[in-house]
Amino acid sequence: MIPIVDLICKSLTGGEYKGKMVAKVKTLGIVFADEQRSGYCSGELVSGQVLVELSEDMRVTALRLVARGCARVNWSEGPGTATTPSSAAMATSSPSSSLSSSSSSSRSFREEVEYVHSAQTLIEAPGENSEESFIALHAGKHEFPFSFQLPQGPLVTSFSGKYGCIQYWVNATLERPSAPDQSVRREFPVISHMDVNTPTLLSPVSTNKEKMVGCWFFTSGPIALSARIERKGYCNGEAIPIYAEIENCSSRLIVPKAAIYQTVTCLANGRTKTCKQMVANVRGNHIGSGSMDTWNGKKLKIPPVTASILNCSIITVEYSLAVYAHIPGAKKLKLELPLVIGTIPYNGFGSRTASVSSQFSMDMSWLSLALPEQPEAPPNYADVVSEEEFERHAPSYSQPDDLERELGRPIFAYIQEFRFQPPPLYSEIDPHPTLTEEEQSRVAFVI
Ligand SMILES: *[C@@H]1O[C@H](CO)[C@@H](O)[C@H](O)[C@H]1NC(C)=O
Ligand SMILES: *[C@@H]1O[C@H](CO)[C@@H](O)[C@H](O)[C@H]1NC(C)=O
Ligand SMILES: *[C@@H]1O[C@H](CO)[C@@H](O)[C@H](O)[C@H]1NC(C)=O
Ligand SMILES: *[C@@H]1O[C@H](CO)[C@@H](O)[C@H](O)[C@H]1NC(C)=O
Repeated sequence: MIPIVDLICKSLTGGEYKGKMVAKVKTLGIVFADEQRSGYCSGELVSGQVLVELSEDMRVTALRLVARGCARVNWSEGPGTATTPSSAAMATSSPSSSLSSSSSSSRSFREEVEYVHSAQTLIEAPGENSEESFIALHAGKHEFPFSFQLPQGPLVTSFSGKYGCIQYWVNATLERPSAPDQSVRREFPVISHMDVNTPTLLSPVSTNKEKMVGCWFFTSGPIALSARIERKGYCNGEAIPIYAEIENCSSRLIVPKAAIYQTVTCLANGRTKTCKQMVANVRGNHIGSGSMDTWNGKKLKIPPVTASILNCSIITVEYSLAVYAHIPGAKKLKLELPLVIGTIPYNGFGSRTASVSSQFSMDMSWLSLALPEQPEAPPNYADVVSEEEFERHAPSYSQPDDLERELGRPIFAYIQEFRFQPPPLYSEIDPHPTLTEEEQSRVAFVI
């Protein structure tokens, strides 16, 4: 009847309590009415049963259920920990916390915000304070149904990260006379829906950049990059069409790529901790000298990642789309466009924006712009080894693409187990974020 019972019940052993032998509760478990549910929303009813299996008759004082939900962050910093203070952390640190991080002991940062807290009593003996008062449960299986309503107010989507998580769970506690309380806890998923059909998320995002690549005074031409997406908001499973132009006027061989990055920011005691990791990428073709590659809607599929979490006060989960080119012997040229991953997909009514993209390829004015950047010195070893700050601090020297090569399959195949993953590979903030966002205010529903 309840096939998954073994997974979610706690097998409890009897034993001695205060010098007396205490009878055994064979199992104590929680099953939800809808085990297939991918997420509960605010205001919804969560129901299920607490299962109690006894190998002999037993006296019980009460069976209580508590539903809780909260966001929690927790990390420590200091000489003993491997974490390098990020520039963001420096910027937001209070005098006291920067002091403690330079002292010899590590300091922990912790914060919690509660979203759900409700308690109910499933059974309770009358006159509960009396040792004589109890309910007799017979040997065998017992089921105690429960249900509770999630708050109408806004909830935040369940999430689990390296330094913080947003979790919702129920805890059932069985109380018995002259025996320790026994309890079991089970998590349930919550989704806070985010509709991508809003003017801000339907608006296109674009940016461009160029870089001079040279050797002393033998400066070759610029490498220019320009990228655009039709909307800021997409959902899991959707493929983002990327419009980009990459021009190689340099003497270097460049390969354009695009990637989706996830940035998780945790906040506690005035300090922030940021993790940035690549969750999907795609590679373009080599571009020959003086030539140009045009991406006219090159697709990059969004892997099954947590939707953007933007309104929790202590944890945010943000995404960006990076279009970049590795340039041998120089820092990579990289553009980053803000991206929001929602849960309610595009309904097509904003399709007018699609026509805007055709104007894009005509807007090539950036190609003739003067070059603000200094030509670079010849590549030195350090430049070649490490191209970007956050990669320099990466625990592994694998570049994402190398990682793909090593694993023999695309990284996003691993994102499936995202919530159960070990800490991300890239755990430092990019100290030079290139968020030159240039949001166009042209919006969709002009008919
Ligand atoms: C905080 O994190 C540390 C190590 O990651 C862990 O040992 C500790 O139990 C956590 N504390 C809380 C309150 O979650
Ligand atoms: C967060 O935003 C989502 C989507 O806009 C909304 O549904 C939810 O209620 C908000 N939650 C909070 C805590 O503000
Ligand atoms: C359930 O809640 C009780 C009371 O708050 C607590 O003592 C117990 O540790 C919790 N059980 C689990 C498994 O978290
Ligand atoms: C850029 O041109 C150099 C010179 O041909 C060439 O070696 C390199 O392959 C070109 N870059 C591209 C973009 O391929």
